[in-house]
Amino acid sequence: FNGVAITGSGSAVPATTLDNKSLTQLVETSDEWITTRTGISQRRLALPPESLTSLATTASQQAIAAAGINPEDIDLILLATSTPDDLFGNACRIQAEIGAVKAVAFDLTAACSGFVFGLVTAAQYIRTGVYQNVLLIGGDILSRWVDWQDRRTCVLFGDGAGAIVLQASQSDRLLGFSLKSDGTQNHYLNIGYEGSAQELSPGINVTKGTYQPISMNGKEVYRFAVQKVPEVIDKALFAANLTVGHIDWLVLHQANQRILNAVADRLNIPEQKLISNVANYGNTSAASIPLALDEAVRAGKIQTNDIIATSGFGAGLSWGAAIFQW
Ligand code: ACO
Repeated sequence: FNGVAITGSGSAVPATTLDNKSLTQLVETSDEWITTRTGISQRRLALPPESLTSLATTASQQAIAAAGINPEDIDLILLATSTPDDLFGNACRIQAEIGAVKAVAFDLTAACSGFVFGLVTAAQYIRTGVYQNVLLIGGDILSRWVDWQDRRTCVLFGDGAGAIVLQASQSDRLLGFSLKSDGTQNHYLNIGYEGSAQELSPGINVTKGTYQPISMNGKEVYRFAVQKVPEVIDKALFAANLTVGHIDWLVLHQANQRILNAVADRLNIPEQKLISNVANYGNTSAASIPLALDEAVRAGKIQTNDIIATSGFGAGLSWGAAIFQW
């Protein structure tokens, strides 16, 4: 079979909660400002010994159990992350933790679009008949890269991981997708590397430094999301030969409630179809879509055969949408 089906999901969040009131002790802000502008009430923070590997491992084990397969069945592990425990790549560590001995594993970096980009990438391997069982994980620990003195960004983000299993199936349930990038707007949102020259020998300088905290132009990112996300969902719907009326659930990257509402509004999708957990977790980057998806599945909201429209958007800038049937 060369069709693609999602057969299981899982998720994991850190044990520690930081609410808005606690943030007022760090920066000049208020619960009222944060909730009215973003809809976020609290976020989870990964503290050692928690790590991206530990959260991703738990999410993966749940997804594998839900799919009813064994770790040894997995052919490919894709980890969408921008915050690996190891800059050389984190996916192999997860492979080792879950015992997916047969799988090839690698990281995919596309910030908050990572899960949707990973979904489409995984599907190509299945459609070409190369692999049958793929584990896709979206996970990020942005708390490592937030400047906790910068009130414009530190109130927005949280940590977590989510995972799905995609399998070859007779019917293709990935109905349509569209992916986009625009590097000319990269400066609106990034975690840039900066270093200073270190002379090794005359005329040979290497750069030694580290990544800088998240830098964001909030207004431009907001404008970008509200314009581009409805457009890309329309494109994915067109590819699927469907219309907005077919959508049962809208599962967007959980950036903030105002963006979610504005996108649903522009698409004319009623609020009851909008899945949101941003109040509890903040923006968890690549984790946010699989985390929201998994919670909605476990709550019995999303049912077999429901049509889901999903869209990730963020740094790059990058954005994309996929329409799939559960
Ligand atoms: N508490 C109190 N005041 C604050 C805070 C805060 N946490 N943050 C900013 N302010 C102040 C600003 O300093 C500014 O004050 P000033 O006018 O005296 O300078 C005022 O509030 C207004 O600031 P703006 O930045 O104009 O606020 P805005 O209405 O644009 O809301 C927000 C900011 C919530 C960040 C909004 O721009 C937004 O939602 N942007 C999208 C951001 C986002 O979702 N990014 C991530 C998506 S991509 C990804 O997931 C990686």
